Amino acid sequence: MKAVIFRSYGSPDVLKIETLQKPTPSDDEVLVRVHASSVNPAEWYAVSGLLIARLMSGLTRPKDTRIGVDYAGVVEAVGKDITLFKPGDEVFGARSGAFAEYVCVRNHIYPKPANLTFEQAGAVATAAITALQALREHGKLQAGQEVLINGASGGVGTFAVQIARALGAEVTAVCSTGNVEIARSLGADRVIDYTREDYTRSSERYDLLLDIAGSHPWRENQRVLKPYAHYVIVGAPKSNRWLGPLTDILRTRLAAFGASQNVVFFIAQFRREDFLLLNDLFARGLVKPLVEKVYPLEKISAAMRHLGTGHAKGKIAIVMTD
Ligand SMILES: NC(=O)c1ccc[n+]([C@@H]2O[C@H](COP(=O)([O-])OP(=O)(O)OC[C@H]3O[C@@H](n4cnc5c(N)ncnc54)[C@H](OP(=O)(O)O)[C@@H]3O)[C@@H](O)[C@H]2O)c1
Repeated sequence: MKAVIFRSYGSPDVLKIETLQKPTPSDDEVLVRVHASSVNPAEWYAVSGLLIARLMSGLTRPKDTRIGVDYAGVVEAVGKDITLFKPGDEVFGARSGAFAEYVCVRNHIYPKPANLTFEQAGAVATAAITALQALREHGKLQAGQEVLINGASGGVGTFAVQIARALGAEVTAVCSTGNVEIARSLGADRVIDYTREDYTRSSERYDLLLDIAGSHPWRENQRVLKPYAHYVIVGAPKSNRWLGPLTDILRTRLAAFGASQNVVFFIAQFRREDFLLLNDLFARGLVKPLVEKVYPLEKISAAMRHLGTGHAKGKIAIVMTD
C-alpha cells in the first residue's frame, strides 16, 4: 500500500510516498481502506521538528515515520473479536498513520454519517473534537451565553462556530475580510473582520472567548471578558522556531495569574462519547464539515504547505487515489 513517510524534520518536502506492506488486522482490530484524511497543525509541527515533537518522537530524526490522524473509509476486513463492524461499512475516526491507503483501527472507529462525503468525514476527528471539547468541557458553554471565537474560519474555527450555535450560544466570529461570508453562513450571529475592527476594543462582554488564533495579548482579551468568564486557549501563532505556540501560551497563563476569569489551555483527547455526540450533530444537519480543498495523497507536501500559510478556510482534505 502507499503511505506517507518522513525520515527527517524539515519543510513539507520531507514528506514522501512509499510502498509499505498492507497491514493485517489482529483479533480486535478493523482493517479500513482509507478514502480520505485531512491535514492539521499538529502534523505541521511534527514534520517541522518543533522541540516538543522531537522530545516525543526523536531528537535528531523521527522514530515514528508515519503521519496523519483523521480518516474516513470503508471496512475491508475485521478481526475475529469484532462484532460492531463488517466489511463494506463506511466509517471514520482517528488513527495514527492515517496518510495511507489502509489503517488497522482498534479504538476510534465510528459509523460515517450518511449525509457526509468521505472528504468531509475524513476532515472531522482532530478539528471537530478540539472545537467540541474547547466549548463544552473547558469553556463550560451554556445555551444563551455569548461566545467570541477568534480564528473562526479555519479547521477548528468552522466547527466551533457551528457547534456553539448547536449548543444554543450567541456567537461572534472573528476572521479576515475574505471569510466573513463563510462565518455568517456557518451561523455566526455577528462577524468581526479583524482587518477592520479590533474585537478587544469592542464594548461587548463575553462569557467565553475561544482563542484559536492567539492574536492579542491577555490584557487586551481580558477587556472583553465578563468577570468569572472562561478564556480557552486553543492555539497561538507559531512565533518561536523551537517552541511554536508554546511561548505565547505560557506568557498568557502567567499574565492571567490571579484574574477572576478561568484561563485554560488544553490538548484535545479523542473520546468515544464526543465522537458520538458529533455524529448526532452531523446526522441532524446542525454541523457540516467545511472542506476548502481536496489534495490527492501524492500532493501531501502541497497540502501541508497550504495549511502552513495559517489561512485555510475550513479543512484541507487528502484523498487516496488508485
Ligand atoms: N489545543 C489543541 O488540542 C489543538 C487542536 C487542534 C489545533 N490546535 C491549534 O489551533 C490553531 C488552529 O488550528 P486550525 O486547525 O483551525 O488551523 P487552520 O485551519 O490553519 O486555521 C487557522 C485560522 O486562523 C485564522 N487567523 C489567522 N490569523 C488570524 C488573526 N490575526 N485573527 C483571527 N484569525 C486569524 C485564519 O483565518 P484568516 O484566513 O481569516 O486569517 C485561519 O482560518 C493552531 O494553532 C493549532 O495548533 C490546538
